Amino acid sequence: MSHALKTVPGTEDAPWQEFDPEAYFQHYYGEPHPDDDTLTYLAARALRAAQTRPGRDLDIIDVGTGPSLIPLLAALPVATRLTAWEYAAPNLRWLQNEITSPPLRPQWQHFWR
Ligand SMILES: C[S@@+](CC[C@H](N)C(=O)[O-])C[C@H]1O[C@@H](n2cnc3c(N)ncnc32)[C@H](O)[C@@H]1O
Repeated sequence: MSHALKTVPGTEDAPWQEFDPEAYFQHYYGEPHPDDDTLTYLAARALRAAQTRPGRDLDIIDVGTGPSLIPLLAALPVATRLTAWEYAAPNLRWLQNEITSPPLRPQWQHFWR
């Protein structure tokens, strides 16, 4: 059993430093999909349910943010602090550019309604 587990590639085996975040963005988020709408709705609802009082009262961390703003946008209305936890250099550069180059791209504005 432990041998079988060792043969399954883990995150540490993925070549994240060679990842192309813009290609990922265009592939997965270039066009809005109903499953992403559902995911965003459910995430926002779960975050609201986690609140202990109305308004912003959650300290939120998104682990493995990658080239997606969906979890951050879903969390924004309830967050006192929002942390994107990402370690791949290409994704960090992409994220930095994405959040400091207004206006928000139409693909993200779609989720901010
Ligand atoms: C499958 S992608 C998910 C991207 C995005 N959250 C989404 O749902 O579209 C996984 C992300 O986790 C990041 N990652 C993997 N291991 C990590 C670690 N130990 N610490 C922080 N980020 C990590 C990768 O760089 C990659 O951006």
